[in-house]
Amino acid sequence: KTVSFDFKNVAGMASAEDIAAIKEEVVAAKSTLVNKTGEGNDFLGWIDLPVDYDKEEFARIKKAAAKIQSDSDVLVVIGIGGSYLGARAAIEALRHSFYNSVDKEIRKTPEIYYAGSNISSTYMAHLLQVIGDRDFSINIISKSGTTTEPGIASRIFKKKLIEKYGKEEAAKRIYATTDKAKGALKTLATEEGYETFVVPDDVGGRFSVLTAVGLLPIAVSGADIDKLMEGAASARKDCLAENFDDSDAMKYAAVRNILYRKGKSIEILANFEPALHFVAEWWKQLYGESEGKDGKGLFPTATDFTTDLHSLGQFIQQGSQNHFETVINVLHPTCEIVMEEEDCDLDGLNYLAGKTVDFANKSAMNGTILAHVDGGIPIIQINIDKIDEFTLGELFYTFEFACGISGYTLGVNPFNQPGVESYKKNMFALLGKPGNEELGKELLSRING
Ligand code: PA5
Repeated sequence: KTVSFDFKNVAGMASAEDIAAIKEEVVAAKSTLVNKTGEGNDFLGWIDLPVDYDKEEFARIKKAAAKIQSDSDVLVVIGIGGSYLGARAAIEALRHSFYNSVDKEIRKTPEIYYAGSNISSTYMAHLLQVIGDRDFSINIISKSGTTTEPGIASRIFKKKLIEKYGKEEAAKRIYATTDKAKGALKTLATEEGYETFVVPDDVGGRFSVLTAVGLLPIAVSGADIDKLMEGAASARKDCLAENFDDSDAMKYAAVRNILYRKGKSIEILANFEPALHFVAEWWKQLYGESEGKDGKGLFPTATDFTTDLHSLGQFIQQGSQNHFETVINVLHPTCEIVMEEEDCDLDGLNYLAGKTVDFANKSAMNGTILAHVDGGIPIIQINIDKIDEFTLGELFYTFEFACGISGYTLGVNPFNQPGVESYKKNMFALLGKPGNEELGKELLSRING
């Protein structure tokens, strides 16, 4: 195992007795998940994905990635929510910290940008400028094939492709990842002849990182998708086999539910490596959308440390105490720098000479953990050997599995997202989408007072 959870700093609020009291519920929730007897059980395809995936499509993903690498300076990944966060999380964790701006000789693969995860004309106009007249391809990702944000972005970047290459050539640079049979994107892809990849029916967006949704962009970035799947497969084996006392996923689900029941309704995922920023964004969606319903749920938020110790640190330490932290500790950084002695010790930092920068980072981490524990904040620590494809696959899968268990323990269906529809209904009415005229009038009169 390259990923392990440490619960010693929650003991004050999630005691051995508390764990013993909730254990049966959590074990039952795990059975509900793996026996597929709970609500949302038609969305559990992700459980077996690491060992039971379409090998022909996997090979096609690699081939398409190689083509994009050879004919494109830029790839635009168009998707929102579960249709882009996993890819971005993996690419930013695994590749260069300044992936798009570092010399091509170092990066070796196309620049990768994201669109369709907002409706900002400024963002898209600026991205069109960044692409300029360089060669590019787009990967449109939408399970439903009808989501407005990626729909708008697709039109804009498709237009640029057609202007540059003509319709026929442009179609060879558009990759569509969507439902195998239905939705506007599937219809368009079939009609225009785009290469398509499938989001399986039984895998929801936020659980889809290990399908073509995540794998194609990740492969384009040069990261090793075989190793990612191997890590996930290894975590799957552990998650399925382990009993409560050996299972990090079950213990994590247990502890967060205990803390929630004691009024700790906010979980802060804290990292000390900027490369993990989007892993936290992915995690926020996974847990937020899976658990926040029926008036229940922990609010998942995230901090980048030590950066946010100078902004939110004060609140975390001494503000209203309705939160706990889950700290990701990367044991071995990808790159190491040793501090050197300077002739003139004006900044007084010569005492660090011979020490690594990571030693300073770890000292900050350990100091923060102790300060927060002393301030009454329970802390779960996740130790990751290093950031690579295998460990990330393990982490993704363990979080997904724990999320299913945690959601069932909480008493919700972790695999739907009915609340996401409310804003869409209003947006369609305000956009003037045919069939929404009455609601449109009502909303406009509310807006205009
Ligand atoms: O997890 C989810 O289901 C959502 O976040 C979706 O991924 C998101 O709404 C995008 O949907 P779609 O892929 O249908 O465009």
